[in-house]
Amino acid sequence: MSKPKNHPLPLPAKCNVFIAGTGGREHALAWKLKQSPRIGKLWVDPKANVGLRQLGEVCPQSLDPKNKFHFKRFLEKESIHLVVVGPETLLAAGFADEYHDPPNRLVLGPTKSASKLEWDKAWCKQVLRSAGVPMAEGRSFTQLDGALNYINSREDPLVVKATGLCAGKGVTVCDNKAQAIAAATAALDAKVYGDAGATIVIEERLHGQEISVLALVDGKTIWMLDACQDHKQLGDGDIGPNTGGMGAYSPTPLATNDVLRMIERDVFVPTLDALRREEIEFRGVLFAGIILTHGGPKVLEFNCRFGDPETQSLMARWRGDLLESLWLTASGQLDQANISFDSGASCCVVVCAAGYPVKPQIGHPISGIDSAQSLGGAQEKVICFHAGTAPGNAAVPITSGGRVIGVTAVAADVAQASRLATQAAAKIHFEGAFFRHDIGSRVQKSIV
Ligand code: AMP
Ligand code: GLY
Repeated sequence: MSKPKNHPLPLPAKCNVFIAGTGGREHALAWKLKQSPRIGKLWVDPKANVGLRQLGEVCPQSLDPKNKFHFKRFLEKESIHLVVVGPETLLAAGFADEYHDPPNRLVLGPTKSASKLEWDKAWCKQVLRSAGVPMAEGRSFTQLDGALNYINSREDPLVVKATGLCAGKGVTVCDNKAQAIAAATAALDAKVYGDAGATIVIEERLHGQEISVLALVDGKTIWMLDACQDHKQLGDGDIGPNTGGMGAYSPTPLATNDVLRMIERDVFVPTLDALRREEIEFRGVLFAGIILTHGGPKVLEFNCRFGDPETQSLMARWRGDLLESLWLTASGQLDQANISFDSGASCCVVVCAAGYPVKPQIGHPISGIDSAQSLGGAQEKVICFHAGTAPGNAAVPITSGGRVIGVTAVAADVAQASRLATQAAAKIHFEGAFFRHDIGSRVQKSIV
């Protein structure tokens, strides 16, 4: 018997969208979605930052994964056609399983079982190993004795990771055995990450430039996006603690077409095939953190969502209709998409609050957004994406998180975009504001 044909699901003439998430990534997505001629009403969460709120209607109650019934009623009442999911926590809670209901409503984001690639690093490693995907070699442990024996048996530098979601905090990149022992003990004995650290992965520390490679995936088709580079460490020159990301730029000249094709062939295709063998279909954004080692690209981790701040940099250069591309992804019609990026480059410099990433100060009035956005020459632009901002008194936004504004510039190349974004970031003022002055310089140094 022949298989039933998939009926095409057309993008509604006016497509109502709910964007789940409240930060800089979501503001960038909403900014681009609003430029689509097919956008209907765009709904945002009541906890959304000021930039997001200015673009959409605020839905009556914050999205609560524990009160699913209430949220479903809202989606039905407002005829939401597409839900775009930003944060991994919602995917891990089964958000897509719950609300993806074609043809009535699509969710851009994978199911709970597909997003396990992100929320269970130990399982992800098993999948990658079975698929022969090049990665940092390592092992998982639930018992401290075994972990310590393993660390003591190794001579090379190690990385210790909590297997579950820890809001970017569960990874310790170690210089020596003592640090690895302390990190394993903190997770398995002191239980500093709770259940998320009940299993740990201990893996080899890789060396090389790190790139973020994102692709749209609809279950069959993979669409590779321009590769980005994020700067995770807090201080100029890549020093200090890891953060969620202090800035990003795209495209990175390190990811030549050949490198991207190799990553598609050796990483994305076999990973998705391995999921399929387990009867898991992946639909959404697949994001590989890759280190370009002397032995070729190797996977550090997978995320199952857009990156932050990579997305700010990608949206600033996205050409054409983002709404259509996301619709085609969520409906399994990605082979019909036509996605490209403006030539040149973009760079996002994140202006942060004093105390980030440990305990950011909040509540300070922010100024200078308009003057930052007025910079740049004829072929250039600066967009300030809000991240941790909240409405203050007298129409002046106040700081409400560690990463406050992603100042994103588009210019002819990485060097010029980086210079413009850094100059514009200096126009943003609030008490204790700081940012890195070298976003983009790592790659420029490496290619001269
Ligand atoms: P992850 O959450 O796994 O991406 O780890 C956070 C950051 O830690 C990465 O972006 C890397 O900068 C670093 N990292 C993670 N795993 C390794 C590794 N095996 N070797 C070197 N650095 C790593
Ligand atoms: N910038 C890295 C991430 O979004 O996880």
